[in-house]
Amino acid sequence: MINEPSILKRAVAELDHEVGHNRLVEERDLPQLNYIKACIKEAFRLHPFAPFNFPHVSMRNTTVAGYFIPKGSHVLLSRPGLGWNPNVWTDPMRFDPDRHLDAERKQVVRSDNELRLLSFSTGRRGCPGVVFGSTITTMMLARMVQGFTWEVPQNESGVNLVENHDDLALAKPLVVIAKPRLPQHLYLKG
Ligand code: HEM
Repeated sequence: MINEPSILKRAVAELDHEVGHNRLVEERDLPQLNYIKACIKEAFRLHPFAPFNFPHVSMRNTTVAGYFIPKGSHVLLSRPGLGWNPNVWTDPMRFDPDRHLDAERKQVVRSDNELRLLSFSTGRRGCPGVVFGSTITTMMLARMVQGFTWEVPQNESGVNLVENHDDLALAKPLVVIAKPRLPQHLYLKG
């Protein structure tokens, strides 16, 4: 979002409009923060924390998405394999939160039962913490965006999002500058 100022600006505008400057965002605001939720869903799609979901073992012969999976197979689903898949997503390497906003109601659904991304997976072994996990994530991002302006240090042109060779974490440490943007009394005193 720091690399895409228009996206960050829209997220800030949503918070300013829905919450304002005189109090911090609270859980009761979350139903209105659909652009923030779309940003999170897009970050989960484009920047998964781990490359694979937990392995599952097929209990019987089955066919999924045209693939025959014999009973007893260990199945590993690749998150980038789905989230970055051009057959599933248009222009997949572009950070575009709008793709998660339903055109009419502008609502964002947390789960993806069609399995176009694997953030929480689905079905009987899908994440039971989907509401808890996404509430915490949304609150955290919303407070960071509401509470601070964000920019890269003067000598940097943007956040370098290249991943390292071992996992999907950033190759270089994230260094950004945050400045408070709300009245002082809303911040913890040190
Ligand atoms: C943003 C936060 C979270 C994400 C992205 C996430 C994602 C996932 C994923 C992808 C799975 C594997 C599903 C599968 O194998 O099909 C999973 C499983 C699980 N998650 Fe989460 N999770 C999150 C937060 C939480 C929280 C807050 C809790 C509990 C309070 C939780 C509890 C569990 C448990 C118990 C399982 C194992 C379910 C099973 O194997 O039957 N998760 N989660």
